[in-house]
Amino acid sequence: MLKKITTAAAAVLLAALTACGSGGSGDAGSPSGNAKGDDKITMGFAQVGAESGWRTANTKSIQEEAAAAGIELKFSDAQQKQENQIKAIRSYIQQKVDVIAFSPVVETGWDAVLLEAKRANIPVILTDRAVDSDDTSLYKTFLGSDFVEEGKKAGEWLKANAAGAKNVVELQGTTGAAPAIDRKKGFEDAIAGTDLKVVATQTGDFTRSGGKQVMEAFLKSVPQIDVVYAHNDDMGLGAIEAIKAAGKVPGKDIKIITVDAVKDGMTALAAGEINFIVECNPLLGKQLMELAKKVVAGEEVPPRVVTEEGTFTVDQAKTELPNRKY
Ligand code: AHR
Repeated sequence: MLKKITTAAAAVLLAALTACGSGGSGDAGSPSGNAKGDDKITMGFAQVGAESGWRTANTKSIQEEAAAAGIELKFSDAQQKQENQIKAIRSYIQQKVDVIAFSPVVETGWDAVLLEAKRANIPVILTDRAVDSDDTSLYKTFLGSDFVEEGKKAGEWLKANAAGAKNVVELQGTTGAAPAIDRKKGFEDAIAGTDLKVVATQTGDFTRSGGKQVMEAFLKSVPQIDVVYAHNDDMGLGAIEAIKAAGKVPGKDIKIITVDAVKDGMTALAAGEINFIVECNPLLGKQLMELAKKVVAGEEVPPRVVTEEGTFTVDQAKTELPNRKY
């Protein structure tokens, strides 16, 4: 009896996962391309969540480019929880999709489920974020930014442009996530050996509300803050709200550096409330669909595809803003 209830509960969970996650052209819960016996590729995509403007743009890019490429997309939103991503990946394995793609919410803890995909002969593509695993045979390729480089660009700009600044507070991304780990490292490496020092660092979970909350606490506990280094625009925008509420002028009393360059971030940069943004490109959909087609066809793909991206100053943001797509 108990076993029956458990099995039924699992089926309901599986159906719910698929139904609430259906964002692509595919019919939620319908059999995969393999099971249907037609040529249409079915991709299961396990997204991190909808925590930031960057993530919203990334999801849109994946959904639009899947439709354009004629790929049936099964899409799930993990609400920034690793266990939800693992459940979604397991459901895609059970549905026998042709390829699984995902952006891992954190770096570690993926080997078991990726091994299940490998044993089921379903290729996996990492997009946006990496996993920390010794077994690189668990995925075919990793498409995304070089987050260490992004952190370095932020630190290099600060070294060259913030004369007299000393105390930096850092708003970290989600604890354990590749961009949080790597952007921290790149920045620290760049400012090493200078007068600049990270005097306080805490996660704001890549959200605007998280950035605001952490910044409010920093403003109360850190006597002198010269610079905010936020791992994404949303946390930087939350910090701006906290700085204004504390009677200070963002961009002047406290310099702000962020990562992403989404429209809201670029608007604040053009207004001088942010001083510098390192770009992180969310428009990965087209490249992902191209890689998926090759992987499903059994063609060789490079193990790492790095996204090209730049940086923006206040003046560059003013020029770029009217053309910004996300
Ligand atoms: O993994 C990319 C990061 O995740 C983006 O910088 C951030 O905005 C998002 O939530």
